[in-house]
Amino acid sequence: MQHATVTLDPAFTIAPVRRRTFGSFVEHLGRCVYTGIYEPGHPTADPDGFRQDVLELTRELGVSMVRYPGGNFVSGYRWEDGVGPRASRKKRPDLAWHTIETNQFGTDEFLRWCGRAGVEPMMAVNLGTRGVAEAVDLLEYTNHPGGTHFSDLRALHGTPKPYDVKLWCLGNELDGPWQVGFKTAHEYGRLAAQTARAMRMLNPDLTFVAVGSSGSAMPEFGAWEAEVLAETYEEVDMISAHAYYEEVDGDLGSFLASNLDMEHVIRAVTATADHIGARLKSSRRINISFDEWNVWYLSRFQNQPPITSWETAPRQLEDIYSVADAVVVGSLLISLLRHSDRVEAACQAQLANVIGPIFTEPGGRAWRQTIFHPFAQASALARGAVLHTAVSSPVYETRKHGDAPLIDAVATHSPSGEVALFLVNRSIDEPVRVTVDTRAFGRELRIGDATVLADDDVYAVNTADAPDRVAPHPHPGVTAGSLEVVLPPVSWNVLTLH
Ligand code: AHR
Repeated sequence: MQHATVTLDPAFTIAPVRRRTFGSFVEHLGRCVYTGIYEPGHPTADPDGFRQDVLELTRELGVSMVRYPGGNFVSGYRWEDGVGPRASRKKRPDLAWHTIETNQFGTDEFLRWCGRAGVEPMMAVNLGTRGVAEAVDLLEYTNHPGGTHFSDLRALHGTPKPYDVKLWCLGNELDGPWQVGFKTAHEYGRLAAQTARAMRMLNPDLTFVAVGSSGSAMPEFGAWEAEVLAETYEEVDMISAHAYYEEVDGDLGSFLASNLDMEHVIRAVTATADHIGARLKSSRRINISFDEWNVWYLSRFQNQPPITSWETAPRQLEDIYSVADAVVVGSLLISLLRHSDRVEAACQAQLANVIGPIFTEPGGRAWRQTIFHPFAQASALARGAVLHTAVSSPVYETRKHGDAPLIDAVATHSPSGEVALFLVNRSIDEPVRVTVDTRAFGRELRIGDATVLADDDVYAVNTADAPDRVAPHPHPGVTAGSLEVVLPPVSWNVLTLH
């Protein structure tokens, strides 16, 4: 059996675990909002129309922060359409997803929902078809104490106290030709800087995310970030990164190693940001908001015939996730945690139904997709400091990424002394024995709780009738009282060391 070693030292820390690593994303897209988090008339809906079953799953998922309202949707959104009495809200065509937006759910509903879910809102402003004025208006609506048109309107709509939203995305994916109002880096950079500056004039205490490339395959990846940051460096706090992965042409080996691309994105964007900082002789450091990441079978979506109808909340991007997808999501979480020094926020895209960990039936049940589990476990157990986790692993050859380590892992060390160790085995057919070296702790550590998510069928999924077909189980591969574990092929593993 192949063997790997994971070496930990409590003195070698990367950064504190950031709660904002465990963000999610709610876009007005498909059934994420309508019949996802919001469904008046559903048996579990509260008086605001929020599905309690979905709220409970959101809390269990351990989401810390939620980005809203898009995504591509935000680039054509008029936020004013989504506030005030519901009966008079306008229906609009949403150009991004070719649907009808009823605006029955808007800013107030979202921010109230965040309060119920116990999550921090991350709001995006429309810098596709709109600009500085509308962004400042929205900020006045959400954050200004009162005595002005939009703050008084908020009070009239039932919320006198400001929502005090701190985290703002300055648009979405404006480098992409699919984006309504897409721009050159120079055009966008100027607009983003002006918007941030104006918003800070109303409310100095805000955190801004500038739009980075939509993906590492974009022709201008790197150059876009450099030009945008040259314009915005002193105004923003983070630059966004987006990445989606899928298994293509049956190449499971490459798919399982997807986080090597995420690592490349993080390194490249960080280097670009630091290069601009050096050129500008700035003492500031721009971090990454990885505010869209996940497994997404994008090619299935792109291969569908173009949508010609205009429907309200149709089924769109409803990927059903497998064991292999959950293992990839686990490895992406490992990368995000490992780079906690520079990844300041991250959002799994999206929360419900649309490439989401939570799936719902309209009027019916809600359940956990396979990818729910690695996120929930990492959010629940990653505490304290992220440790440099030295992994010595055999490698395997992938078509897409060259050699990839079979085992990847990251550990966190809580103030009470507990270590959480998250590991994936990417081997398609072989178990791997892992020894954890904790000599540097100077005290005896042993594996305590241990779970594994794996299955003989790596394409097994959860359904409404079998919602727990794929879930973490007590780990059969741990040798009692030891620091050794055997990880089955294609598996996500969580160990706590006491
Ligand atoms: O999450 C789905 C879409 O992916 C978002 O709307 C967009 O920002 C990205 O291209």
